[in-house]
Amino acid sequence: MSQDLMPTAGDDLIAPLTDLPEWKRFVVAAQTCASRTDGLDLIEAPGLMLDASGQRHSPALLAAGEALLQARGFTEQRRRLLAGEAVNVTENRAAWHTVLRSPTAPAEVLAERERMDAWVRRADAERRWRHIVHVGIGGSDWGVRLAVSAFGYAGTWRDVRFVANIDGHAIEGGLAGLDPRDTLVVLVSKSFTTSETLENGARAREWLVAAGLDPADHLVAVTAQPERARAWGIPDTQIFKIWDWVGGRFSIWSAVSLTTALSVGSDVLAGLRMGAAAMDTHFAQAPLAANAPVRMALAGIVNRSVLGQGSLNIAPYDSRLANLVPYVQQLDMESLGKSVDQAGRPVGVPTGPAVWGMPGTDAQHTFFQWMHQGSDGAPVDFILCCQADHHWAAHHRQLLANCLAQREALMRGKTLAQARAECLSEGMTPEQADWLAPHRVHPGGRPNHLIALPRLSPYSLGALLALYEHRVFTQGLIWGIDPFDQWGVEYGKILARGIASALTPGAEVRPESAGHDVSTCHWIEQLRR
Ligand code: F6P
Repeated sequence: MSQDLMPTAGDDLIAPLTDLPEWKRFVVAAQTCASRTDGLDLIEAPGLMLDASGQRHSPALLAAGEALLQARGFTEQRRRLLAGEAVNVTENRAAWHTVLRSPTAPAEVLAERERMDAWVRRADAERRWRHIVHVGIGGSDWGVRLAVSAFGYAGTWRDVRFVANIDGHAIEGGLAGLDPRDTLVVLVSKSFTTSETLENGARAREWLVAAGLDPADHLVAVTAQPERARAWGIPDTQIFKIWDWVGGRFSIWSAVSLTTALSVGSDVLAGLRMGAAAMDTHFAQAPLAANAPVRMALAGIVNRSVLGQGSLNIAPYDSRLANLVPYVQQLDMESLGKSVDQAGRPVGVPTGPAVWGMPGTDAQHTFFQWMHQGSDGAPVDFILCCQADHHWAAHHRQLLANCLAQREALMRGKTLAQARAECLSEGMTPEQADWLAPHRVHPGGRPNHLIALPRLSPYSLGALLALYEHRVFTQGLIWGIDPFDQWGVEYGKILARGIASALTPGAEVRPESAGHDVSTCHWIEQLRR
């Protein structure tokens, strides 16, 4: 192993979490405080207000959390993150997405941004590209989908299609009915090796050729590997650069968002960056007790590692934010879905939860029953926009009422005595009430955050995304894991390559000789036919 790959973060960071006296005190403080405060626990941050009243909270728990962060070297590690030092220890590189939105970004970042904006201005001026096919996956997809659906929900003059999955139906549907002469294919891949993106891109290129067009005129690439895009036949003027030190799931702040600019405008990107930059400053400067990402992280640690909650539900009460769910899912699960610390030892407590969700009120008619009365339940991040951008006030009133009502029911619960009294007040006999009341009990005390945006502006959404990024960073720091690598994803990718060649007609490789298990061999044989 190269010496370069050894952890550089210092002894504090890689000390086993469960050996720390500060951890033990944190656990005791979490176990002994009430399930929620009766008072209001509001944290004001740029672009949003965080209400943490629905989480476990006590002065002792907050003090223990602050001491734990100190024991983990929080101030120094946050400085290293924001200064672009190598915080991704297993890959020995920075995770410097914050600089992409900084008002004082380095010249090369500003220059690339200006090059992209100029390219978009020219396309707009020429009224070119009625259709955009955005080809990319994971971090090269979700952020763009999110921004386009958040701000282009009512339609844009350019029709944008997203093609991510290797499933041929995705590219077939993505291209169906488009006029190739007015179609731009945006290939986004940091590595420019991702098989889904290259295969889908190849199908799009064939489609352009079949229409008698020169693909070089219709393809744009966004990548950290410009020479690979060049070898693919894309001219330099149509290759936009991202940097190795930007993680895929943090790349929305870069030229990865070219499609967003073409669809909803470069101003939206500027607003997103401003909101995120303001959240960066808040994260860097606000005292810990009033620091929104830190407070969310501490609550997340209590819920996951002390209370054993295995999942986190994201409930945006705004249908424009449907894609926030997979966005946060990738951000959180790819970052915190690890069980060993930076020194390679088991963390010793449960780490990153499964993240899932759906916009309200759809979610209420899908899985909220389980949230209210199921045996597990899940902590919830409720997200609402105080002001809507449509003019149907009654819709918005009902939407907000539903959000507050679900949250209140989850927090407050309903006791057996209350349920029984309710049944009696509805005219049931005491026997009927005794039988039905247990079915109407809600345990309550389910932890939640309420995140209120004044309205869904690019500024607020940018701040919200940075809030989640810094929450994830802080949780990773406490657990002692590297939140910026994703080794787990790589293993499946390698196996898939071997299986794909075994499935190819006429393949000479016998599946057994490649060391697959019996069932996998059976299915390779079956599917090859
Ligand atoms: O899912 C693994 C991953 O590496 C993500 O981190 C990344 O966002 C995605 O694949 C796509 O990678 P690329 O942009 O290199 O095609």
